[in-house]
Amino acid sequence: MTARPSGEPLLEVSGLAVRFGGLTAVADVGFAIGRGEIHALIGPNGAGKSTVINCVSGFQQPSTGTIRLDGAALPRRNPVAVTRRGIARTFQTPQLFGRLSVADNVRVASQRLAGTRKASMDDRELIHLVGLAGLEERLADTLAYGQQRLLEVARALACNPRLLLLDEPAAGLAGEDNERLADLMRRIASRFEVGVLFVEHNVALIRRLSDRITVMHHGLVIASGAPDRVLGDPGVVAAYLGASDPEGVKPC
Ligand SMILES: Nc1ncnc2c1ncn2[C@@H]1O[C@H](COP(=O)(O)OP(=O)(O)OP(=O)(O)O)[C@@H](O)[C@H]1O
Ligand SMILES: [Mg+2]
Repeated sequence: MTARPSGEPLLEVSGLAVRFGGLTAVADVGFAIGRGEIHALIGPNGAGKSTVINCVSGFQQPSTGTIRLDGAALPRRNPVAVTRRGIARTFQTPQLFGRLSVADNVRVASQRLAGTRKASMDDRELIHLVGLAGLEERLADTLAYGQQRLLEVARALACNPRLLLLDEPAAGLAGEDNERLADLMRRIASRFEVGVLFVEHNVALIRRLSDRITVMHHGLVIASGAPDRVLGDPGVVAAYLGASDPEGVKPC
């Protein structure tokens, strides 16, 4: 388990709301993440989780609310500026350059940092860290799905983030890839003191990895706190986990 947050949070989201026309996707969301903390954002399909990730990463303009990194407000609707401030993300569906090699995918990401902060690891070390050593020259779209997800994590880390946002990183992964991802997330948080916010439906993985959990339902936070307390909360069981085995894989 990684370090608990202390002092000023790394990320602080408060009063976040997003409306798409008449639809309120995110109604009023607040949570905080500390340095080196692994924080799960969970909830049923359509709860608003990806929309929150999109706001924090600068892809979506919030209707209202504040998002602060290390106490300072983040640029709005400007993903490149947000990345330069220290937030990197992966997507629910991998967004890679399919006709570029593994090495070039990482290089393109690290070039975003040019002229800003110095990366703590070079591209080759990052590829090794995520377990893709030896595949540097392979085209991204020839990789197995699990390897593509790991390459997305390498691309995000190439931006040298203080906060890493992972939208359903384990979706479609099985067995060994799942284990590799979990181990990687722990190492990222503890070794680099990076905060990790991840959206996930795999309850066993959520329980094993998270320092804290925020649960969303219909755009609202319905529970937040330590895994045992949150996953045992009757409101969370009713809204999300249902009657399924809480050690099970996917509740919905
Ligand atoms: N760009 C958009 N325009 C209109 N509606 C949107 C847009 N993006 C999301 N929504 C809607 O907002 C709500 C929340 O969507 P969101 O993708 O954030 O949910 P989610 O919790 O990530 O769900 P899932 O677990 O299925 O990925 C849904 O009703 C969705 O259809
Ligand atoms: Mg989503």
